[in-house]
Formats: sequence, structure tokens, C-alpha cells
Amino acid sequence: MTSFNRETLPDAVRTNGATPNPWWSNAVVYQIYPRSFQDTNGDGFGDLKGITSRLDYLADLGVDVLWLSPVYKSPQDDNGYDISDYQDIDPLFGTLDDMDELLAEAHKRGLKIVMDLVVNHTSDEHAWFEASKDKNDPHADWYWWRPARPGREPGTPGAEPNQWGSYFGGSAWEYSPERGEYYLHQFSKKQPDLNWENPAVRRAVYDMMNWWLDRGVDGFRMDVITLISKRTDAAGRLPGEAGSEIEDLPVGEEGYSNPNPFCADGPRQDEFLAEMRREVFDGRDGFLTVGEAPGITAARNEHITDPANGELDMLFLFEHVDFDCEGVKWKPLPLDLPRLKSIMAGYQTAVANVGWASLFTGNHDQPRVVSRWGDDSNETDRVLSAKAWGLVLHMHRGTPYVYQGEELGMTNAHFTSLDQYRDLESLNAYRQRVEEAKVQSPESMMAGIAARGRDNSRTPMQWDGSAYAGFTAPDAPVEPWIAVNPNHAEINAAGEFDDPDSVYSFYKQLIALRHSDPVVSAGDWELIDAADPHVYAFTRTLAAAPGVTGGRLLVVANLSGRTVDLPSDASALVAAGVTEPQIAIATYGASHAVVSLANRELDPWEAVVVRL
Ligand code: GLC
Ligand code: CA
Repeated sequence: MTSFNRETLPDAVRTNGATPNPWWSNAVVYQIYPRSFQDTNGDGFGDLKGITSRLDYLADLGVDVLWLSPVYKSPQDDNGYDISDYQDIDPLFGTLDDMDELLAEAHKRGLKIVMDLVVNHTSDEHAWFEASKDKNDPHADWYWWRPARPGREPGTPGAEPNQWGSYFGGSAWEYSPERGEYYLHQFSKKQPDLNWENPAVRRAVYDMMNWWLDRGVDGFRMDVITLISKRTDAAGRLPGEAGSEIEDLPVGEEGYSNPNPFCADGPRQDEFLAEMRREVFDGRDGFLTVGEAPGITAARNEHITDPANGELDMLFLFEHVDFDCEGVKWKPLPLDLPRLKSIMAGYQTAVANVGWASLFTGNHDQPRVVSRWGDDSNETDRVLSAKAWGLVLHMHRGTPYVYQGEELGMTNAHFTSLDQYRDLESLNAYRQRVEEAKVQSPESMMAGIAARGRDNSRTPMQWDGSAYAGFTAPDAPVEPWIAVNPNHAEINAAGEFDDPDSVYSFYKQLIALRHSDPVVSAGDWELIDAADPHVYAFTRTLAAAPGVTGGRLLVVANLSGRTVDLPSDASALVAAGVTEPQIAIATYGASHAVVSLANRELDPWEAVVVRL
């Protein structure tokens, strides 16, 4: 086993409820989107060798774990989230040898590697699906096959088994002329849903997971893992199917009904996760499991991540990144900070005694936080607001996830024409909402995609100010698969690395603080000044215990671009006055923070952590 350089928290400190404390209880995870990270062979796509070549940068940042978005063999309909062979690497990214080399080089540096596990669905080009088209094949029941609606001509509009829409546009059913039936796909039609009711499917998934763990990977981020158990009636019929005892929901403005209430957190969710734990993880250690969990409430998070239930270590919940829109993400609303604070408080308090939270504002499906809730319109506010949001997130209790480029304060793409986008979600949504259902104007939809589209976080990593930002091979620079943000001339790793005032250096400090201070990683979390519209304030408290000095931290962050008063609860806590050595970290530096707190005000985007 590789040796890892971080010290696990002593068991006298309570984290998720497990004893001994899990190794990851004070860890920070960094997400890599391989196709946009580093290209080494000059084809314009990032690759595994590119990741290996940047490990020293990641080790310097101080993160503990790297999560790779999918690098398996894939037709790339959804950038690798459509897998045609789970036990091979897509040639776009390299080879299994490259993967072994990455694992070895990462482990040498004390970095763990977590792979994406996409098993709600496969690619329609997976051998299992090909075989499944034959009703007499042993794989016949590995997917959700259903006949056409009785009395309708199979394959014609209206003959779909029910009215469910796909998250990527159109019906969630696709007709297969070979089989003469429809298959369910919650995502694109090239992503057919696996039938988890079938034990042979589950066995194949667990075998594959064991194969990767035996090869040296350190865990999995499980793609939409809370969509695997679907609600059916006693006869196995889905809602709205002919003869089903379960009624479907009414269709929405785009002409389809929403499968989510019937597919998210379904009746066998806990059973499947506990079975996976037993079949794959029991008897192993040093691993991490994190489930992507659309439709999961804070209360259910407590159950699933309670170690006593043997399911998953942590989940990604979505309410905090889904609420700031008018019904659909393409109609964004400005941030309502008190609402965000109350959602976060719900997450934090649900796992105050057992279970665990993961902490994120960004990933490959979300816009950049600095553009979304900060201010990327000028350099001063960009740097300040990127630091303020980073500080707020990292001072919560849980495991922080840093999405590639977030540590540089990378911004949204700011594309202005549809042909600059690559993501099937944005392109299909435009077609469906603007051209087919005509429920949103072209201007409004373009603004929606610019604000919330997934390509915002998928532009190439900005390594330096050279052509294509140092993303493609330096000796053979070639146009990347998606445009580099022109602001790479000012925002890039080379410029930030040695600058003590950069966003990069600030993230380094935030990560180090979690490693060194158990109050940050494990202290109780309490929201104060909940109603304040601009300031996010909370405390972190840890009781002293054998081998642990306890302590209390006050976190205050002005998440607006104007000077504001320090709200009352926070004011009361600093009433006795604060000195420079008490400032653990601050966006404007310690001496500035002391003056601000004495004056009972915070400058634009000023955020401070005080040791009380
Ligand atoms: C998850 C992934 C997203 C993908 C979808 C379907 O939400 O994060 O990128 O498109 O699942 O696999
Ligand atoms: Ca490449």
C-alpha cells in the first residue's frame, strides 16, 4: 500500500460517526475533466499523459484526491458519460498502460485517484446493449425494454410506452427496429438505462468495480447513482404505461412528463447501495465513495452516509445549485443569499451527528462560481469574489471539491453564438425550447445558456498566456475541441503560481487550513445572522479532547460588491476586539481584517476567519 502524508484526525474528534475516523475526513478532492485538462499528443483533446504531466502542480496545491471524469472507451456522445467498454480506456485519452502510469505517479506523490462510475446507463454501443436487442439473448432483460402503446404503430409519434421526457431533450424512449420495442433512456438516446432489477446486471457492475480497485484505483464518484431504482407497480409496469397502477405526471410546457419523481431515490435505492458496499468495498480500506444524488433530500443524505447503514461515504446534493432559476435552469434568477444559506444549513444540520456532507459550487455540469455568484467583470472583483466564495465553501463541515480551474478563478466561457457550444444538453435544449416547443425566445435562451450551460466549465484549463493557454502540446499547438477563453492572457496558472495574492495561493491556504486545523474539518457548524442579505456568517466549534486542542472560529463573508455593516450576531462575537494573530485567513489580508472588524463593516467581497 502507498503511504499518504496526511494525518487522519484522532478518534476523539467525531466526524461521520465511524471509528476509526475515515482517512478522508480532512481531505480535499480535486476534479479533473480530462478532455479539457492537458493535451500531450497535439490532437486538441486532453489525455491521461497530460494529467500525469501536471501531478506536481496538483501536489503543490495540496489536494489529497483526484476525481477523473470518465476516461473509459466511449463514443463520446456525452463526453464519456456514455461508456461502451468499462474495462478499457478510450483512445482519445490513451491506454490502460497510461492509466497504470498515472496511478503509480499519483500514488508516489500521496495523491489518490477516484474514477467516475457511470452505471445508471451504458452507451448504446456497449456489447451488453447490442446483445440485449435480441429477445432470446441472456442480456435481453438488462435494459428497460417496453412494447409500444397498444393500438399504436411502433416507432411512430405517440406510440412511446409513457410520456416521460429525457433530460437531454425529446422522449425518454427510443424505438429499436431490431427488437421491435422501445428502451428507456433518462439521458441521451445513446445512454440506455441499465435494468438494476436484474441481479446479473448488478453482478457485472460489481465485478467491473472490483477489477478497477484491484488495479489500484482508490474509489468511485458514482454518476446519477440515485436514479438506478425505478418505481413500478406490482406487475413491474412503469407509471403511465398501459395498464399501470401508477399514474404519470401531467406533461409540461415542452410536451413531456418528468421521470424524476419515479426514478430518483426509488424503492430499492438503499438495498442496491448496501449490496454494492458488501460486494465491492467490504474488506478493503483507503477508498472513497461519493454518489451524485439528484433528488436526494438532506434527511436521506443522513441515512445513506451514516456508516452504520453501509451505503456511501458521501453524496452530492443539488438543491443549492438548482434553486436560483424560474422552474428551468435556462431561466436563471439572481442569487437570493438568505435562501442559499438556509439550504446549506439544512445540509449541515442533517449530518451534524452522523453521516457526512460534500461541499461544492462547481463541477463539469455547473457554470463557474465566480461568474455565477461573484463578479468577473473586472480583475479586482474577480480575484476578491473568487476568494470569498472559496473561503465560504471551504469553511463548512464536510469534504470540499475543487473543480479544475476554480483554484485560478477561471470564469464562464462568455460564448455569444450557438456554434461555439459543444454540449449536447445546451444544443438539444435550444432546439427543443426555441425551435420546436417555442417556449423561450432565442435571445432569452442564448442568455440562459451563457449563464448556466455546461460548456462554461469545460473550456481548456488555462496553464499560461501562450497560444491555446498551454493546453495543447507546446511543440505542436493545435486548436482545442472547444475554444480557449481569451482571458487566459490574464488568468492562468503560470501567472498565479508564485503570486502570494493570487486565487491559487489563497486556495492553497484554504486547503492547508483544513489539514492542520481540526476545528475546520470537524467542528460543529452553526449559522448566524441568517436573514442578512449580503453577509454569510457562521461559527465552527470543537470541544477539546485527548490529543486535540478545541477551538471556535467565526466566519464572515460579504458576498456583495459594496461595503456593508457587520451583522449583529457576528458583531457581538467580535465585541472584545480582534488582533492580527487571531485572523486565520482573510481575502484582504489580516491587518485589513482587523480594521474592518473594529469598524464593524466589511469591504466589497471581504471574507474573514477569526479564531475566537
Ligand atoms: C451526470 C453527469 C453529467 C452527465 C449525466 C449523464 O449528471 O455529471 O455530466 O451528462 O450524469 O451521465
Ligand atoms: Ca490528446
